[in-house]
Amino acid sequence: MLQSAEHEVARSWLDGALAGFAADNEDLVRPTCALLASIVAAPARHARMINTLSLLEHMGSHKIMATQHSVGIDQATLKHVAEEANHAYFMKRQAEKTAERPLEYIAQDLLAPAAARMYFQRLETAMVRTLGARRSGRAVYLYMSMIVEFRALWFYGLYQQTLQHARHALSLKRILGEEQAHLDDMAARLEATGELDEARVTAFLGTERALFARLLGALERASA
Ligand SMILES: [Fe+2]
Ligand SMILES: [Fe+2]
Repeated sequence: MLQSAEHEVARSWLDGALAGFAADNEDLVRPTCALLASIVAAPARHARMINTLSLLEHMGSHKIMATQHSVGIDQATLKHVAEEANHAYFMKRQAEKTAERPLEYIAQDLLAPAAARMYFQRLETAMVRTLGARRSGRAVYLYMSMIVEFRALWFYGLYQQTLQHARHALSLKRILGEEQAHLDDMAARLEATGELDEARVTAFLGTERALFARLLGALERASA
């Protein structure tokens, strides 16, 4: 486990980074909230979106398992993979409750699945390319997780607001708490290994923003 000093250094860096992320994504708030409100109001479509979130959480947990399996795998990584797998389960359960039927990860049960998969894969490809072969798979795992957590927190935060506004029974509070902890943890672990590089984070967040904007457009078209 990490010392609190690393958490503190990472935490103060993160506060600034989160504020920067919010500012850089300000123009995406309105279209995202409009999309979420229209989806939440239509249960069948809402179920497909929740199932898509389940797919993304599942892809995330699978990715960690597929790349982090050395004998030195630590508690933090095992906790992370367990929580992401649990998010996939939670979302699947909510999706099926909303749909009132079993749902699979197939096109008719998902919303813009090709774009959702592409978001994840293109982001990872960009990171592997930038970090290069000389970097450990651990650095790719930590960066990928950290960048995705910025978006997860932002998106789930807006989704939670939308649900509350619609007086919907679904609550994302526990997931939001865990995603926040993951973000803190990834930043602290990168800081601890001397890998936390601000310019690199800024570049990755720029790539992520462009990929998310494309995913948003695909979701808008899928639910039009
Ligand atoms: Fe998650
Ligand atoms: Fe997470």
